[in-house]
Amino acid sequence: MAATILYGTEIAKDIREQLASEVEELKRKGIVPGLTVILVGEDPASHSYVRGKARGCEEVGIRSEILLRDASISEEELLQMIEELNENPNVHGILVQLPLPSHISEKAVIGAIRSEKDVDGFHPVNVGNMMIGYDALLPCTAHGVVEMIRKTGTPMEGKHAVVIGRSNIVGKPVSYLLQRENATVTMCHSRTVNLRHYTRQADILIVAAGRAHMIGSEDVKPGAVVIDVGVNRIESGKLVGDVRFDEVKEVASYLTPVPGGVGPMTITMLLKNTIEAAKNLAA
Ligand code: GUN
Repeated sequence: MAATILYGTEIAKDIREQLASEVEELKRKGIVPGLTVILVGEDPASHSYVRGKARGCEEVGIRSEILLRDASISEEELLQMIEELNENPNVHGILVQLPLPSHISEKAVIGAIRSEKDVDGFHPVNVGNMMIGYDALLPCTAHGVVEMIRKTGTPMEGKHAVVIGRSNIVGKPVSYLLQRENATVTMCHSRTVNLRHYTRQADILIVAAGRAHMIGSEDVKPGAVVIDVGVNRIESGKLVGDVRFDEVKEVASYLTPVPGGVGPMTITMLLKNTIEAAKNLAA
């Protein structure tokens, strides 16, 4: 049976309507949620992602600004910018688009952001709080993935979730969030031997490896929920996921497309975090 396609664009639309009314309510109290994005260098993919984030802000009424800096900016200058934003009461969320040029330490930059304004959920304080189940600003893609699965109505409790990829941005946090939903989680990565042995056991398969088309129908248990987090540009210039969509849609119960799947949910969770940060900072 063919899978139901999970269009993040549609799922995100409902959530964004709800977020827009939360922003209206905050504005009535004199609070205008504000997000500042720092974008360093000319990477076209980063520029495109950041434009999407700004559009999302506009859609729900969040004030946003993009601070563009040349790739030659020093780490010290960047840390100084962050310090000023940390102190600015009109800025509730600070996001430094990654990757950064190699002369700048991501660790130093992420650690410099005030954790209450860390709307990416990358600061060690937020990561630690998420891991132990305390309140935290959650990493946006991982949170978006779990919300998409929730939307399918598939209970996560007791299910075997297999995550491919152990990045700090997606793989690691999604594994914790799925455990919080009482799933049994297996982590696979580039050094996993006999990957298919694991993926074929997955009731829920999260593919976040960054390798175009690596997962086919033979790798998937019939009826599985398959979430494709990969965004890969192939030679033709086309954007594709880590999953061979046309094959896997014949065996999965639910499947996300690329583009139009997880991406819009990531941005929506960023908007949600910015509103939450604004509420927390005003409290
Ligand atoms: N680069 C790719 N994904 C992300 C993200 O979620 N946040 C930031 N800051 N940079 C990224």
